Amino acid sequence: MFEAIGLKKEYKRDGAPFLAVNDVSISIGKGEFICVTGRSGSGKSTLLNILAGMSPPTSGEIVFQGRKYSSLKDRELSAIRGAKIGYIMQGMCVFSNFTVLQNVSMPHFFNKFHSDAEGRARFLLDQLGIERLARQYPPSLSGGEIRRVAIARALFNSPDLLIADEPTSDLDDETTKEIMRVFESIVGQGTSVLMVTHDAGAASFGSRRYVMDSGVLASAEKNQARGKPPVPLI
Ligand SMILES: Nc1ncnc2c1ncn2[C@@H]1O[C@H](COP(=O)(O)OP(=O)(O)O)[C@@H](O)[C@H]1O
Ligand SMILES: [Mg+2]
Repeated sequence: MFEAIGLKKEYKRDGAPFLAVNDVSISIGKGEFICVTGRSGSGKSTLLNILAGMSPPTSGEIVFQGRKYSSLKDRELSAIRGAKIGYIMQGMCVFSNFTVLQNVSMPHFFNKFHSDAEGRARFLLDQLGIERLARQYPPSLSGGEIRRVAIARALFNSPDLLIADEPTSDLDDETTKEIMRVFESIVGQGTSVLMVTHDAGAASFGSRRYVMDSGVLASAEKNQARGKPPVPLI
């Protein structure tokens, strides 16, 4: 469904070029839950920005449902991103001066996929267990609730691929597990999830795991039994 081949991203630091993403290839099938860990500065967010079509790679190619990113015009790539990819960016959460409902239905202003935006937003809030908070403003919500709002918004257009950058940072263990359950249920409904985390608890989830180090992505399979079911949630 989604394939990235030989991605590189070059940045300059003090005039000297370096590869923040160094020859990364990855394929993501329908309904897969892929988890990428790695230290801060290893290139995870840079990679996700490229995969989401927000930032072009210096070299390499991405093919999503048979279409090459490099062959698409800006507008076409934006349309694909809006319709098919949900992206929860690192640190970027929600807009404080909009209600939960307004935050979740925000994609409606860009793509009118749903005739009943409020109904769609309420459905997602209900699925995520926070329908009661629809009229509240984010400053009155807990960290876990705010993450759910961000997840609901990313799901608004029913993406085929959900990309999440550190979705559980700053959350306690219990709330992290709850958010992971949410991701597992999203995967169970057929959406592919690519999650980046440096949270050891969250990193035990996912059907396939990778480690990123100095821009290089490597399988973490040595540390896990293939096909092992997710760690039971107690
Ligand atoms: N726009 C940029 N220009 C130059 N260097 C950058 C830019 N964005 C990120 N970097 C550098 O690229 C490396 C990878 O960053 P990032 O992808 O944010 O890492 P991670 O998400 O794994 O913490 C870091 O060394 C960072 O300083
Ligand atoms: Mg990052």
